[in-house]
Amino acid sequence: MDALSIISQDHSNMWRLATTIDHVALEIEQVAPVDMAFFNAVFDYIEQFVDRFHHPKEDDYLFRLLRQRSSEAAVIIDALQVEHRDGPANLAALRATVAAASRGELSGGQLAMELRGYTTVLKNHIRAEEKNILPLARAHLQESDWAEINKAFLDNADPLFGETAKAEYRELYHRVVSLAPESVGMGGHSVGSLQASSASETKAELLLQVQGMESCYGRIKALKGITLEVRRGETVALVGANGAGKTTFLRTLSGVQPMSAGSIHFDNEDISKLRSDKRMRRGICQSPEGRQVFGPLSIEDNLRLGAYTQPKHQVEGDMEKIFTMFPILKEKRALPAGTLSGGQQQMLAIGRALVGRPRLLLLDEPSMGLAPLLVEEVFNVIKTLKRQGMTILLVEQNAFAALAIADRGYVLETGNVTLTGTGQELISNEQVRAAYLGM
Ligand SMILES: Nc1ncnc2c1ncn2[C@@H]1O[C@H](COP(=O)(O)OP(=O)(O)O)[C@@H](O)[C@H]1O
Ligand SMILES: [Mg+2]
Repeated sequence: MDALSIISQDHSNMWRLATTIDHVALEIEQVAPVDMAFFNAVFDYIEQFVDRFHHPKEDDYLFRLLRQRSSEAAVIIDALQVEHRDGPANLAALRATVAAASRGELSGGQLAMELRGYTTVLKNHIRAEEKNILPLARAHLQESDWAEINKAFLDNADPLFGETAKAEYRELYHRVVSLAPESVGMGGHSVGSLQASSASETKAELLLQVQGMESCYGRIKALKGITLEVRRGETVALVGANGAGKTTFLRTLSGVQPMSAGSIHFDNEDISKLRSDKRMRRGICQSPEGRQVFGPLSIEDNLRLGAYTQPKHQVEGDMEKIFTMFPILKEKRALPAGTLSGGQQQMLAIGRALVGRPRLLLLDEPSMGLAPLLVEEVFNVIKTLKRQGMTILLVEQNAFAALAIADRGYVLETGNVTLTGTGQELISNEQVRAAYLGM
């Protein structure tokens, strides 16, 4: 991490926040009540993080040095710094406006307009920095400037920006996510830990080796000879357009879809002819496309289903770990799974795969159909699992997000692997960018 990537990451969080406020403004306009807890969380985050930390840090280092190196940048910085300076006062005014609206002194329509005014300024500000300032900084700042800037941004003992402060900012951000309306947010967290895979599992070792896999629906060949590998501890992304064969690949791998040619080796064993429950016992556990939780069954019973191949005595303990990861599931543990929101059902589907104690976790489009903030939470969960050493095969249409967290990736097109490489290589590949990343 360097200062620029920290700044860009801050920007993308702030952008999501602005989008979320816009969404809430729309709801308020359509007469939803004003949720003060949500707005307080948003304003606390902006006050603590954006106004007290993010802006001063830019002012003190990046902007100060860039001013000296580029007169073109200096003009833009002048305008941006006026906005930095006015930030706290504008925020205070918006807080007062929201409070007035919650007391009924302002109509929903008026509040929505104020909120949009605020997010428009915020978005334009972020855009100006991303589109103008950061490129100018890359072009004009000298090595010694970068050394100074990076040092300031990476100072982990800094009271404003050290580890402790960062944990607090993250906490504030999570609070916003958990208080955002069902349609954009959820009451789950992406923290907590499950058992890590055993320490003896070294990275370079092959866990899964698929060779020439073919599979058909009637006379139509959906997989035309897929060769793919996953090493222990790796996160591998399989990306491709709708209908490319991603789901068919995962289903053939877990044994619920017949394989007409090819072989599958898992942990040095040929499992090509094993039944699906036997593959699951060996640790190939899938969170299926479209989540497929059992709506009438309780959340607890859904989790128990995922653990049916496991010894009884460990199941309760494993379920508690899932509840630590996803507190909202614990809160609702006795309720029918059908009462959960889409994002919560996705968490349940992942939880159900995890209680099967996967050695290879298969995730089929975990972000499908979810609102932006939820997509982020789902990817946070995957990142956490990855950090804990879980081996993951991630299927996604959301190619950018998937490749960004993957060690390696494969691009699938109509039943064939057409490209493979590290996540970063694929993200920067022209072909991939044009076809899947919309750039
Ligand atoms: N149950 C099915 N019966 C017939 N054809 C199917 C079935 N499921 C998928 N297909 C076809 O197989 C191809 C791959 O589908 P799928 O694996 O679902 O792709 P993806 O998951 O990448 O969107 C598509 O052409 C699709 O129409
Ligand atoms: Mg699919």
